[in-house]
Amino acid sequence: MTLAAEHPRAAEWAPSLAAHRADHVFVRARFGLDPEPDFADRVLALHRPATWAIGSIGVHDAMVLRDMVCGLRPSRVLEIGTAAGTSALLLARAMGEAGCAAGEHPAVHTFDLHPWCYFDRSRAVGSAIDEAEPNVRSRIARRVGVTALDAGREFAGADIRMAFVDADHRHPGPAADVLALLPAMTPGGWIVLHDINLPAEADHYERVKGVRVDWKQHGAKWLFETWPFEKLVPPMHKNIGALRVPVDCAVTAADLAPCLRDPSMPWEMTPAPDILRLFDH
Ligand SMILES: C[S@@+](CC[C@H](N)C(=O)[O-])C[C@H]1O[C@@H](n2cnc3c(N)ncnc32)[C@H](O)[C@@H]1O
Repeated sequence: MTLAAEHPRAAEWAPSLAAHRADHVFVRARFGLDPEPDFADRVLALHRPATWAIGSIGVHDAMVLRDMVCGLRPSRVLEIGTAAGTSALLLARAMGEAGCAAGEHPAVHTFDLHPWCYFDRSRAVGSAIDEAEPNVRSRIARRVGVTALDAGREFAGADIRMAFVDADHRHPGPAADVLALLPAMTPGGWIVLHDINLPAEADHYERVKGVRVDWKQHGAKWLFETWPFEKLVPPMHKNIGALRVPVDCAVTAADLAPCLRDPSMPWEMTPAPDILRLFDH
């Protein structure tokens, strides 16, 4: 029996991944890697969300994150936005599969503002990590009550090659997270952003379900669209993309002025004072 056939959602996800093969080919090509004939099986072997977990990355996001890990071979990944822990687990498993995590140290450092899952306050944030196989959960370090500012400070100068931002999607939350992470990032590193197409996803959900949603947030979309340096978005599943930290110059808040200051991109939240200070420089 193949890995895909053993997966509880194989009947739905394996054909869907196969239909998105172009994304797999595209992301790997950016890093000089050939496509894999069994990529769908490999993704399903890594992406096994807890049945109770909602609001996590989907299977196409998992494919892109795995291909980014294959391409970048990071020894550590910083994640902002843990929730149940689904994406932290995917990243840790993908790093294990790629053999790129360094020694006995945690491979994934995941940071969340809240101590509980945002969709169920009776569950501690990252609860799915506690249910995972021991050799994977031991490779994930969790911090709660913290933000990208703490991650950027803790890992400043650590030359991080890959980060994943999936926290507050209200504009300018993702821009703040990216600016805060920059001290930790290596020149040429990549920051993957989730939900860069969230408003369209919300519109689609409203049409299909006939209900109004409160998550039509533009933070990741506007940041991604206005990022003035290299970026990568798969051709089919356009809700996850990656920003490249330039090799030859420092990024400042001035580089993000198009999304921070343009009145056609109104702020959807008021950042805390320490975040506002980031925007001033
Ligand atoms: C969409 S969920 C993350 C989902 C997770 N990445 C996954 O795919 O399994 C967003 C999370 O970000 C957290 N969050 C919200 N604002 C934050 C901030 N400013 N800094 C860090 N975490 C934040 C929320 O508590 C929530 O757990």
